[in-house]
Amino acid sequence: MFESLKEQPADKILALMQLYREDPRDTKIDLGVGVYKDASGNTPIMRAIKAAEKMLWDAETTKSYTGLAGDPGFTEALSTLVLGDSVPRANIAAAATPGGTGAVRQGFDLVLQANPRARVWVSDPTWPNHLSILKHMGIAFTPYRYFDAETRSVDFTHMIADLTQAMPGDVVLLHGCCHNPTGANLTGAQWKAVIELLLEKEAVPMIDIAYQGFGDGLEQDAMGVRMVCEKMPEVIIAASCSKNFGIYRERTGLLMAVAKDASRTKLNQGTLNYLNRQNYSFPPDHGARLVTMVLNDPDLRADWAAELEEVRNSMLGLRQQLADELKRLTNSDRFNFLAQHRGMFSRLGATPEQVETLRRDHGIYMVGDSRMNIAGLNKTTIPILANAIVKSGI
Ligand code: LMR
Repeated sequence: MFESLKEQPADKILALMQLYREDPRDTKIDLGVGVYKDASGNTPIMRAIKAAEKMLWDAETTKSYTGLAGDPGFTEALSTLVLGDSVPRANIAAAATPGGTGAVRQGFDLVLQANPRARVWVSDPTWPNHLSILKHMGIAFTPYRYFDAETRSVDFTHMIADLTQAMPGDVVLLHGCCHNPTGANLTGAQWKAVIELLLEKEAVPMIDIAYQGFGDGLEQDAMGVRMVCEKMPEVIIAASCSKNFGIYRERTGLLMAVAKDASRTKLNQGTLNYLNRQNYSFPPDHGARLVTMVLNDPDLRADWAAELEEVRNSMLGLRQQLADELKRLTNSDRFNFLAQHRGMFSRLGATPEQVETLRRDHGIYMVGDSRMNIAGLNKTTIPILANAIVKSGI
């Protein structure tokens, strides 16, 4: 049987991680996978998470199963963090998932349950794994234009023009904040216009929010999701705790199905439970429990929010320093977009050949579409990167 297996295409982001590991140069710079790194290149465990872990070690008395949707305390705490009071609790069905990727995958499965012929609209570009999972699941998808390669900002005119083709029941995948891979995000007015269009087209928004707190702040980053939930009759939301709680390997995420009509919640919840049971039964609990403890304890929560702000501000500082350095070297404003983008990533706008030159000649690793993880930089590497960008003719 195994002989009929086919070679699968390597995931571009994970393949880059491997290439970086194998590079013997000690001057190499990793701007690849989306993992936060401090100025010394470490991915620390956040203080509040460490403190919660210590408390949990004493307090936890069993490792028995939780519920199919995970611990209700977690779904309550995280859905509140994401949705605020934009919708009544009674309208939210939610299930814990293994990470944000698990939530995306379960979200697509929910779409299939509701409409096996659904089509999903995806931003061009989007996180490559969105496309890979859709392909794997046999779900039809259509790209909508999103990024203006010239200005490196949202190509809103074309985004709207493309989404005008959406049909009733189509699903439109949106990034809640900190768009991956571009770093270019919708303004409040643009969210409003997208909502009006989706209402008119009777399309269903699905929002992937994996970087809440990395862009403009915890509340501001949730603005789009909350606006959508206030207005749209049905919303699917995939949230991740990997980045904003720094618990990547614990696999902690949440899938939410929000309905305007609360009488639908029971059926939605039953479907989410069913899908968890079919795919992996009970979701992982450790990370979810830590997140719940942090969110529900005022001191831990304040410390976590403060550290998250430090992380966010450090990325903003790196963005500004890189933009300033490039301005100095090129005597132009054309890299100012780096300071305007938000989140971990910016798409630099280099060709695949230029990306390859950066890797080969300078040991600088970024994804082939020229997505850079800004958090991979520090004061020392910013001038090195800026020089390499200029030398490579970008
Ligand atoms: C990324 O985009 O680099 C992260 O979301 C990590 C991943 O799983 O791809």
